[in-house]
Order: sequence, then C-alpha cells, then structure tokens
Amino acid sequence: MGGNEIRTKYLEFMKNNGHAVIPSSALVPENDPTTLFTGSGMQPLIPYLMGQKHPMGVRLTDSQKCFRANDIEEVGDNRHTTFFEMLGNWSLGDYFKREQLRFFFTYMVDEVGLDPNKIYVTVFAGDESLGIPRDDESVAIWKELFAERGIEAKDVFIGSEEDGYQVGMQGGRIFYYDAAKNWWSRSGKPVNMPAGEIGGPDSEVFYDFGPEHATHPVFGKQAAHPNSDSGQFLEIGNSVFIEYIKQPDGSFTKLPQSNVDFGGGLERIAAAKNGDPDVFKVDLLRNVVSHIERLSGKTYADNLTAFRVITDHIRGAVFLISDGIMPGNADQEYFVRRLLRRAVRFADQLGIPAGKFAEIATSVITTYSAQYPVLAEKQGAITEAIAREEEQFRKTLESGLKQFNKISLQVHVTSTEIDGKRIIDRSVPPTTKQAISAQNAFDLYTTYGFPIELTEEIAAERGLIVERAGFEKLMEEHKSASRAGAEQKFKGGLADSSEKVIELHTATHLMLAGLQKELGGHIHQAGSNITAERLRYDFTHGEKVEREILDRVEAFVNNAIKIGGEVTIEMMSKDKAQTDATIEASFWDRYPDEVKVYTMTGSDGTVFSRELCGGPHVERLENINGTFKITKEESSSAGVRRIKAILE
Ligand code: ALA
Repeated sequence: MGGNEIRTKYLEFMKNNGHAVIPSSALVPENDPTTLFTGSGMQPLIPYLMGQKHPMGVRLTDSQKCFRANDIEEVGDNRHTTFFEMLGNWSLGDYFKREQLRFFFTYMVDEVGLDPNKIYVTVFAGDESLGIPRDDESVAIWKELFAERGIEAKDVFIGSEEDGYQVGMQGGRIFYYDAAKNWWSRSGKPVNMPAGEIGGPDSEVFYDFGPEHATHPVFGKQAAHPNSDSGQFLEIGNSVFIEYIKQPDGSFTKLPQSNVDFGGGLERIAAAKNGDPDVFKVDLLRNVVSHIERLSGKTYADNLTAFRVITDHIRGAVFLISDGIMPGNADQEYFVRRLLRRAVRFADQLGIPAGKFAEIATSVITTYSAQYPVLAEKQGAITEAIAREEEQFRKTLESGLKQFNKISLQVHVTSTEIDGKRIIDRSVPPTTKQAISAQNAFDLYTTYGFPIELTEEIAAERGLIVERAGFEKLMEEHKSASRAGAEQKFKGGLADSSEKVIELHTATHLMLAGLQKELGGHIHQAGSNITAERLRYDFTHGEKVEREILDRVEAFVNNAIKIGGEVTIEMMSKDKAQTDATIEASFWDRYPDEVKVYTMTGSDGTVFSRELCGGPHVERLENINGTFKITKEESSSAGVRRIKAILE
C-alpha cells in the first residue's frame, strides 16, 4: 500500500463518517503573520476552532501540506522531513473523544491493516497547576478499543520523558505523560503559549517497529518507553482535544466548544504499513531516491544522509515554489534558497552531474501531481527556478569551499598531523579560538552565496564554530544599507538601474505593444523581471505564440529602435489615464492617484507605445543598443505565457 492509497483511504473513510473533504491550504498561511509556514493541519482552521462557523460544516477532513522549517537540520535520520503531508480531521464542537479515538483506531487496523499489537498510546497525565485533570476518559475508551481486538491494555503512569527512563514499559499499552509531552498547541506546552492561543490535552499513537530499531544512545537496543524519540516507536497520529484558551493572566479557560484536531503523518503511517521506519522508503519518496541513485551511480544504503537531504530538500523546494515562494534572501524565500543550496552541496558530494536538479524536481512533480495538479500546471516555472538556483550556487560553491579551507587553516584547530593528514580531535569541543570570524562568514555569504547555516554545518564537520552573533550584526548593517538604497529604486521587477537594465526595460514596453498588435488587446503584463542579461516577461495569453509571430514582434521592436525617437513622460490623474484607451496598464490598483505615462514616439511620428509605468527608461529609442531577440517562449502558468529576450 503506497502513500497515495493511504491518503485516499483516509479521506474516503472520514467522508463515510460524515466529514467534508476540504482542500489543502497553501504552505504560506493566509492572513496569519504569526508564522512563516503552515506547519500543521489545524493552522488554517483556527478561527473555526474558536467558534466561527465553517461553510463546510462541523466535520472536516483533508490532507494538508506542511513545512516545518525547524526540522531542516534534523533531516538525515530516517523519519524527519521538512515538507510532509498531514492527514487531518476535525470536529468543530461536534463529536469528541469517544468517536475520535475509534475513528483513528478503526482506520489504522481495518483500513490500513496495521497489527493492533504493535500500537501503543499515550494520554495526558493531568496538571494541578493548570486545574486540568488526568484524561481518564480517553484511557477508558482505549481500553475498550483494544479489548475488542482481544488485547488487554494496561495503563502505566510515566510523567516526564526523563521519568520514563526510570519507569520503563512495565508491560503497558497506555502511558500517561505530563504537559510537555501530551499537550498540544502551536507553541507547544502550556507555559510556552501566548495569551489567546488555543490548545489542549492530546492522545498520541505510536507504532512499534521492534527493538532492533531502537537507537537511544544510553538505552540502546531496547526503547525505554514509547514517547522517547527512540527509533523503535514512531508517532503516527495525534488526537488533540482543543478545549482551552490561554488568558492574559496565564490561566486556562474553556472555549465555547470542545473540538477535536487530529493530525497523522501520511508517510509515517505508510512506513508503519511497510514495517520499516524509514520514511524515505515509502513509495512517494522512494521514487525520488531511485532517481538520485540513477543520476549518481551510488546506492541509497551507502549514502543515507546525502540521499535524504537531497530528496527532502528538493521536494520541499518544489512545493514551496508551487505556492509562489521563489528562492531569495529574506523570509520564506530564504528557506527555499537554503534548501536548494544545502542540497547542491550534498549532490556535489555524491557526484551528481551539474544541471540535474530540474530532473529530480520533475520526479517529485510526477509523483505528486495527481493529488496536487498545480505542480503539473506550474512545472515549467518550478523546474526553471530550481535549475537557476542550482546553476547560480554551483558557480560559487567550489571557490567558496576553497576559501573555506583557507579560512579554516587560519583558525586554530585541536588536531594532529598523521601521515600528512590533519586529523581533527572531535572530543574537544570548539572554543571561540576555533571560530570562523563573523567577517569571514559574512564574506562567504555575500561573495560565495553560502547561507550562514551551511557555513555552520561545514564548520561543524571540521570541528569549528562560527561567530554567529557578529555575523547577524554585519547582516543587520548590510540590510539597512541596502534598504536605504532600494527605497530610491524603481520597484517594478528591475534588478538594478544599470544602463543595460534600463534599455531592456524600454524594449519591454515596445515588445508589449508589438505583442498586442500581433495578438490583440487581451495581452497584458502578468509579471516582469529584468536583469542586465535579459528580460523575462509574463503576459496573459492562452496558447503558444508561433515563432513566426515572435519574429514579427522582434521586427516591430527593432524597427522602433532603428527609426529612433523620443520617450516622454506625462503626469496625469489615474482616473483620466483609465479612461484613455490608448494607455496600456495591467495593475491599475497598484498605482497611486497620480500616475506617470511613458510614450514612445518614433521620429516619423508613429506612436509605438503608451504605457503606465514608474520608470526608468532611456531618453531616446535609438539609445537602446543591440538587436532585440526573443530567445524563449513558454507556458508560465494557466493562461499566462512567458518570454525571455535579450539585446544582442
Ligand atoms: N495539530 C496536531 C499536530 O500537529 C494534530 O500534532
């Protein structure tokens, strides 16, 4: 049973139990500036858990795309991924514990076919300081559910994770844990919750893969207790009973309704079904892993970390880009960059030839496009963005690593030379003397494009640390300097205001006029991005533009350049501009009340173009140097085409 089947079965099962299937929300939360990414299925539903009426009713289910940025560094073991799908169901003040625990248990055992003997559960132990009692109700329900399968479920009191190592399993099946373990909110345990945050006790389900998978450094081959990140027990589902809201005085009061918020990791359930805790062996990820095996000529089994990082990171980037987040230097975009650059380094180590990221991304898209059609729709834009980021970083990676070697040699390292090889003594923790300086880390970032986390990772591999605080300070200074610069710049998709960029910008206006002349007035700008090398232009048109037509557009632009003429600016009210049919504009509401209209008139009197714009443009058309050439025409997204063009 593969991931797609696990997902379908779950949604079907919940639908048969009265739930409306709702679509997955985007990875960047709408109207929720408190978090960068959607990290759980409940996030888009918070208003409804708090009492607002949901248009689809009181029983909802979905498979929600999630991204947990905090887990980037955890990726490499057999169970952590940054992107994952969370199967979810919700009761908005409708059913409660009895129905919920039965739903999930029945789904696991009867739909997926998991052996109930391998299922262990946890419940909230209660907390006097919060005035919230032990969850005896859930314990009674679990006992019944197991008894129906002929299993006597003994309950064992654990308390904290640490206590668990003393108490041990004691033949139990149901375990009580404190609020650090069996309470869920977006901010974790009750003390960490801000006022106004909702949450509640939860009941988690663990699957037992057998003691041979236990990896605890002290308890080794036999996990001490289920909720111990043991490697033996894997959490596959969590039913949260969201009944509480935190007050400004730190106390908890009941919400107007008692909700259920269930979340289960799709890949983890599939891993349980496989009887192998490695989620990268679940078909959805295995497809990508196999592709990387072919590209690198190496095996997954011998290179676990590198394969897992590349697979997870490219998949994460594909999904983030499909939700409109391009690789960049700030906010969410920075994570896309970090993912891809870290993946490039590991790909390099595996010997994957340059330029293959688009192919790996394509295997992700193929695997997921039945469930997420947007991936196929945006395939061109996604693979292009990924290829570009790979190419850009590969250009500087090698010289950056050389620079890194130079820097590390200057830093004092506890090491000895054996047979001419420097052997780092990793038993000695690095001190500030063994730190990559803030300035060096900053140079690695600005000159070689090394995200600071990558610098730290490479440093750690060499027994070094990085002066992070100093680096952050340099970044702050750098950011405020470039912010000041950016404010003076035109923000219309121009990389800078160098001469070449301005020439291409004026050529863009001429090109749009040419496209409209050839294809009609329905053509408008959908996006523009201009660097000194090329223009990239998205426009509204439903089908491929034939080369013949592109040739005529080129000729239109080159003719205007050849004839030459003035580019004039007129200021007018937006209202007036809007009623003037000769003026082109696409995003009227992005403009202020007073607008600038750029008119390009040939020396023979022909008006080539008249368009609303912020500038800047060349003063005369003949100042555009070179021959205008359209190098590429392709689909950008549904109903939008993309052109790339240069001045040769
Ligand atoms: N919201 C709960 C979780 O993420 C289900 O674990």
